[in-house]
Amino acid sequence: MNYLPQYLIEMNQNTIATLAAPFQIGGITVANRLVAQPMERSGGTESGELTPALVDEYAALAAGHWGVLHLEAMTVMPAYKSRKGQLVVSEATRGSVAALLGKLRAIAPETMYVVQLTVPGVVAGDGLPKATVIPAISEADPAVKLLTDSEIDEIILSFKRAIDVAIEAGVDGIDIKACHGYLGVEFLRPQNTRKGKYGGSFENRTRFFRELAVHARQAARSAGKEQFLLGSRVSVSECIVGGVGTAGPGEYIEDLAEVKRFTEMLCDWGANFVNVTAGIPATQPEVTRPAKDVPWGIYNHFRLTKAIKDHLAEGGKHPAVIGSAYTMLGRELPHIAAKNIASGAVDLIGLGRQVLADPEYPAKLLAGKGDEIHRCTGCGSCSQLLRQQKHVGCTVYNESFKNALKPQV
Ligand SMILES: Cc1cc2nc3c(=O)[nH]c(=O)nc-3n(C[C@H](O)[C@H](O)[C@H](O)COP(=O)(O)O)c2cc1C
Repeated sequence: MNYLPQYLIEMNQNTIATLAAPFQIGGITVANRLVAQPMERSGGTESGELTPALVDEYAALAAGHWGVLHLEAMTVMPAYKSRKGQLVVSEATRGSVAALLGKLRAIAPETMYVVQLTVPGVVAGDGLPKATVIPAISEADPAVKLLTDSEIDEIILSFKRAIDVAIEAGVDGIDIKACHGYLGVEFLRPQNTRKGKYGGSFENRTRFFRELAVHARQAARSAGKEQFLLGSRVSVSECIVGGVGTAGPGEYIEDLAEVKRFTEMLCDWGANFVNVTAGIPATQPEVTRPAKDVPWGIYNHFRLTKAIKDHLAEGGKHPAVIGSAYTMLGRELPHIAAKNIASGAVDLIGLGRQVLADPEYPAKLLAGKGDEIHRCTGCGSCSQLLRQQKHVGCTVYNESFKNALKPQV
């Protein structure tokens, strides 16, 4: 018996063709609609370098022939890491990032390789320095350092240097992270009432991203890369009081007006993609990573993504809009993803946990070998490994990680 609803059965014939269809962003061609979302693997050296094991894992991911392959969240400041094993982008690591990209391109030359750049902030793991731009966060927890304006200026300088390094190393694009509770997204919050040039007015709260996006677009141009992907992964509804997706510092009720305006401004500053996500996984994991058998969480992402895409289109802006949180759709993922693309609700389909469960997802699916896909079971082990600051991988399907959560004797 077929378990799919009628509309999905009808979609079946077109599903593969829709997901396999290239997508144009200006003069850039994305080879297919499947995007490997950034997935922190927490497996780097103490100085933030790639290890041979990580290079092998990314090579396995490249063999999936994704339309866009995001390299995980990398910090631009070695002093601020999200986990001990977080990777660093700096002059010191340029060579190893360049070598990685060379290796990946040899495997999948058609894939676009984008790096997510960040500074962690309060979500840094145990034992690591935590920082914030919001006075109330530091007041509530004195272990969290309140950054001064000149320290923020320093962070912006490091960010700009990391953008230059990433471009020199050969990335096809940069994602200036504005999501999941990391430092960047704090600036945007209505609850960011700090005094000075980085808080209060909307202009001040968006200054960090304006500085970085304008710099990145200019740096790509100067490097002769007219066809360069630039954008942000944005938690458009953080689901906290006064968070992004509310209308004021004390508001709980969702109001997307301001964040919609922010995505418009990103495009004005040179962005050509927006990767829509939601929530802060450290405090409400179920918003960012919908749990198995709770489809509402997934539909919430669909709703938010469509709201941003519609708004941008109404204003005549057409960046690539990437949707998140498709993994838990399991067998229905391709059909629902194709339906969302066909209805204009999203352009590219981002997969998170599924990337770890089966790095070759697109290659298998688009070759008609869907039955060979290792589907994420939603067990949560990868998130647990990340929380414990251990090297992250799939404990269900990847032999190297099968015992990763078991106490070592
Ligand atoms: C282990 C792990 C690492 C993650 N690392 C990142 C990251 O580096 N950057 C990011 O924006 N999101 C990160 N995420 C969030 C995922 O990219 C994705 O948004 C989330 O898992 C929901 O999508 P899914 O339902 O397809 O898994 C991570 C999630 C997990 C479980």
